[in-house]
Amino acid sequence: MGNTRGFGVDIGGSGIKGGLVDLEAGALDGERLRIPTPQPSTPDAVAEVVAEIVEKFGWEGPLGVTLPCVVKHGVASTAANVDKGWIGTDAAALFAHRLGRPVEDVVVLNDADAAGIAEMRFGAGKGRDGLVVLLTFGTGIGSALFLDGRLVPNTEFGHLEVDGHDAETRAAASVKEDKGLTWAEWTPRVSRYLGVLENLIWPDLVIAGGGVSKKAEKWLPLLDVRTEVVAAALKNDAGIVGAAVAAARGPRP
Ligand code: BGC
Repeated sequence: MGNTRGFGVDIGGSGIKGGLVDLEAGALDGERLRIPTPQPSTPDAVAEVVAEIVEKFGWEGPLGVTLPCVVKHGVASTAANVDKGWIGTDAAALFAHRLGRPVEDVVVLNDADAAGIAEMRFGAGKGRDGLVVLLTFGTGIGSALFLDGRLVPNTEFGHLEVDGHDAETRAAASVKEDKGLTWAEWTPRVSRYLGVLENLIWPDLVIAGGGVSKKAEKWLPLLDVRTEVVAAALKNDAGIVGAAVAAARGPRP
């Protein structure tokens, strides 16, 4: 029998959020706790906050933690919107050490991959085979690719080159905010980005996640793309839920 409760922590550029997760319902089990991300967001400073959150809930089982980084076997390899000190850091070992746990208890994965795991199991991707890509539009653009429900980790499609630019610097939700763009002004940027992505991977479904998915009715109808695009269903909690699911499955080989 597996545990029906898990624990996830989602590390973002502005906030670190964590909570207990009901692994059968695919939802938070109670309130989540959010603490602003320390600046600079160095590994040690972030590990302190992760420990504070885990200890606040008194959680002692396996836990999943997301990072906005490529993460292979617990080690962060990039750091696009977070302190560069993460590059080369064994994040799983760092969190386990700070929490006084065996490293096997801590699964660290890319934030968009975690959100995708949750959406595929409980949300907009449930029951969808073929090639599905979840994109999170936030400070940057995160991506999670699934073939027949199985994750292809660390895809980093937010960094595709579009018209000579790193895609996320043109089409992330933060660009809309920073430049004061209307939905009608921002959406063509997303269409252009999705057009490039479509021509490369020909997905069957795109799931649009991140904060802007809460306002999906304002911009999804304005998109001019070939592929079916639907809004993510789990909104802000997808990262926490997906991290907890990944931890309950155990570390990747
Ligand atoms: C990072 C990804 C991350 C995404 C969303 C990108 O800049 O390269 O690893 O998933 O932002 O946070």
